[in-house]
Amino acid sequence: MTESSLIVVVLAAGKGTRMRSSLPKVLHPVAGRPMIHHVLAAAGALDPAQIVVVVGPGGEAIAEAVAPHPVALQEEQLGTAHALQAARAQVAPLLERGGEVLVLYGDGPLITAQTLQRMRRARRDRGADFLWLGFRPPDPTGYGRLLLDDAGALTRIVEEKDACAAERALDLCWAGLLLGDGPALFRLLAGIDNRNAKGEYYLTALVDLAGQEGLLSVVMETDSDEVRGVNSRLELAEAEALLQRRLRRQALEAGVTLVDPGSVHLSWDTALAPDVVVEPHVVFGPGVTIAAGARIRAFSHLEGAVIEAGAEVGPFARLRPGSRIGPGARIGNFVEIKATTLGAGAKAGHLSYLGDAEVGAGANIGAGTITCNYDGFAKHRTRIGAGAFIGSNASLVAPLCIGEGAVIGAGATLVEDVPDQALALARSQQTNRPEGAKRLRARREKLERT
Ligand code: UD1
Ligand code: CA
Repeated sequence: MTESSLIVVVLAAGKGTRMRSSLPKVLHPVAGRPMIHHVLAAAGALDPAQIVVVVGPGGEAIAEAVAPHPVALQEEQLGTAHALQAARAQVAPLLERGGEVLVLYGDGPLITAQTLQRMRRARRDRGADFLWLGFRPPDPTGYGRLLLDDAGALTRIVEEKDACAAERALDLCWAGLLLGDGPALFRLLAGIDNRNAKGEYYLTALVDLAGQEGLLSVVMETDSDEVRGVNSRLELAEAEALLQRRLRRQALEAGVTLVDPGSVHLSWDTALAPDVVVEPHVVFGPGVTIAAGARIRAFSHLEGAVIEAGAEVGPFARLRPGSRIGPGARIGNFVEIKATTLGAGAKAGHLSYLGDAEVGAGANIGAGTITCNYDGFAKHRTRIGAGAFIGSNASLVAPLCIGEGAVIGAGATLVEDVPDQALALARSQQTNRPEGAKRLRARREKLERT
């Protein structure tokens, strides 16, 4: 148990109907990971004592995705205050010891740990009971407007539907994030009713109740891009674009060359060392790590791959999960690699499939070589020794072991192991018939005449 006195509640019980999806909204991925995991990661960076996720009926998939964090069930979606109430039983034991509660939404994947940390500092520095995260969206329609007094304290939040024209004209809005004194928050929560235009239990009503008790609410402003919520596929695409821009900037600042940044698609965990060069139109799925000086050439697709220093991949290469490309190794065009390790300086330059294989250092895989790793029932492994030379268009029927320094003649279909330093030839004998082509043509012409 950490010493932290922070409890985090993530609201994710909304139905997300506008996504028109069978997948719960917060599980839709952004930069290769579910939205709610982005939120949990940002909150987790604050080292909270507890994180509880509020889900609605049918939230089993979310519960599974957020484990080991517990979920609280909100049976009916009666509003944001009602949702927070649903977490009461879960947080009660810790709440007895006091501390802070941070409330955020599961559908806001762009929030950063830095901003959450800034919220904690601001609440403390300003001696506030509640700190509400504000922002100025380009179009404030639909958001709760923040009403401040002359001293800058928050006096009220008005929801769009309850607002008068003058209030609607305000552009400072609530982003949906709230940090407050835990016991006070849950005490006031119980007093919130649903007498408003939507007939919902508004969390925003807390400002009024706090004011009546002389508790201080303040606002901290943040960049509007960071608190964008995702309610539709369009907003999902916009969040993706924003996150991509953020990830690309981080890579560039870390010393990575992106020749055409806008055409490179990164994942949340793409790890690129300084002096990696990425050419245009490269897609990084999750789980890619690339060491210094490696070059990823245009139109390559990588996921679950480790690429060591100075290696070169592509153009038009595909690295699937479990690929490990050794230092200085080269993977060329139209080569697919899966669950395969290539040793230092090994080469597979053209049109190959290497699956469930180990390729020793300095081995050369000829054009068109295929590991036949699947026999229709199970997968089998192929081992190719260091310095081996595999001639073009070989079919390596696994399980198979090719010894160090072995040479395999082109066009082989290998079903038996090859010892170290052996020369293996496995193709049918060629026969050349002198003048045979002429005789063949003559026969065909005769046939056509009859
Ligand atoms: C809410 C705020 C509004 C703020 C906006 C920011 C209230 C009353 N209004 O409005 O001031 O500007 O967010 O995005 O709080 N949820 C539940 N259970 C519920 C209702 C909502 O879990 O019963 C969750 C949703 O999954 C969602 C979040 O709470 O993640 C916000 O709910 P939503 O209904 O979209 O609130 P807004 O009307 O957008
Ligand atoms: Ca919303």
